[in-house]
Amino acid sequence: MHILIFEPHRGCKKVLLKKETPKINLGKTVRDGYEHIQLNSDFLPDYVGIIIYHEGKFYFRNYGKINIFVDNKRLEDSSIAIRLVHGSMIKIQYSENKNIYIGCIEGELDNKWKVFKPETNEVLDIQKDKKGYVIRNANDIIFHGKKINAKYFLPKDGDIFMHDNRIFYSMKNNLFFDVLKNTNLQQKQIVINKQKQYQPQHPQPINKRRPAISMEHVTRYDKKKKWYRLKDVNLTINSGRLVAIMGVSGAGKSTLFDAILKRLKLDEGTIKIDGDELGHVPQFSVLRKGNTVQETMEFYASKKLKKYNKEERMQKIDDLLDKLNLSLFKQSLVGRLSGGQSRRLDIAVQLLNEPRVILMDEPDSGLDIKSCRELYEILARLVADKNSTILVITHNTHMACKYPYIDDLLFMASQGRICFYGQKEDALNYFNINDLDDIYNAVENNQDYFVEKYNNLVNRRV
Ligand SMILES: Nc1ncnc2c1ncn2[C@@H]1O[C@H](COP(=O)(O)OP(=O)(O)OP(=O)(O)O)[C@@H](O)[C@H]1O
Ligand SMILES: [Mg+2]
Repeated sequence: MHILIFEPHRGCKKVLLKKETPKINLGKTVRDGYEHIQLNSDFLPDYVGIIIYHEGKFYFRNYGKINIFVDNKRLEDSSIAIRLVHGSMIKIQYSENKNIYIGCIEGELDNKWKVFKPETNEVLDIQKDKKGYVIRNANDIIFHGKKINAKYFLPKDGDIFMHDNRIFYSMKNNLFFDVLKNTNLQQKQIVINKQKQYQPQHPQPINKRRPAISMEHVTRYDKKKKWYRLKDVNLTINSGRLVAIMGVSGAGKSTLFDAILKRLKLDEGTIKIDGDELGHVPQFSVLRKGNTVQETMEFYASKKLKKYNKEERMQKIDDLLDKLNLSLFKQSLVGRLSGGQSRRLDIAVQLLNEPRVILMDEPDSGLDIKSCRELYEILARLVADKNSTILVITHNTHMACKYPYIDDLLFMASQGRICFYGQKEDALNYFNINDLDDIYNAVENNQDYFVEKYNNLVNRRV
């Protein structure tokens, strides 16, 4: 899919969206290491929103700092992602004259925008009057991702619509048009619309806001060491988030997992989890090295999938190995797998019973940058697919902060305290830094300050 970006005084910029790039940031500032589409208007915030590719479909999610509409539906909440289809229009509304319009099209464009002249038109009945253009008997026009048939269609400033193999853009009393070269794609999309697979009135939330984990006043004091292992932890993590947990060694990250897994006796506090099953990928693999990948999966399937018959279990195993790029290694011995493959097998085992919440303790340790990216891509996809919640303890600041996979950051200070939990994009402001790589520096001598700041924020929310 292409998007056409119309910024005031800056003409049209065309960008191809590729499925190889599951997340693309959109905004004024380009951050190193992120896939990014740069918008040039000064009035915009640094980060406006994100385009997500998921299972053959594109979605748009905003960052909640500016009014954004997709196909006339306002994105109230950064947890909602709206699907983009052929003809969809994203409107970034800053003020009356400062709007950015982004049209979505399937197919190639001629790239020769021309001013439309009514007298040259044979197909549509388009006339110009004092107030602008009027289209009569507007049949088969694609507008806001839907096909419309209407007696009159009056395009407003910024409207983008399509008819046949033409794309129109209306601005300042002019109508510009360009020609779509690949009309097959366009027709295919129309068929899809007819089957009502896409209904813009009902945006598809891929991240439903529901607490997956909530912790209140969780405390454990080690009397011998005179040391808190967790200190008054208050935390709510919603479903559908991929969360990176960071913090210096010994802060209490693994202890936090122990608490969630109910392996840590608490002095005080409560922990609620969505669903009964919790997945846990421990820091060190516990899988037997002498078994093959297939045997390992079958062993855990027999324990975790008691209600399923053999055929169903095998199907599930096949699906998971496929999803985690392990199909080629079914007959390999676990002890012979590479670091990345064996981490993926640890994860596959945990996914058998589809837990809603999965905890992973340093699943990326020892992985090279490529395997690491592959791993995070798989995790991001799992979250998007199943609306599950994945918490990943990591020391890989670069991967957590610079690549677009992680949604939220949880930063821990010594003695099991929280410095920050929130969307990754908000961490810059919170820590007053320009680069997320600087988080550790920012926290180093100011742990108490940030712990207090976090606690104040949480208390205000309650
Ligand atoms: N079983 C235990 N009994 C008492 N104290 C412990 C126990 N396990 C860990 N600790 C202490 O609790 C603190 C937090 O440990 P934890 O393993 O949670 O750290 P972490 O943040 O996961 O560190 P790392 O990044 O090194 O894995 C440390 O000071 C550690 O020494
Ligand atoms: Mg640890």
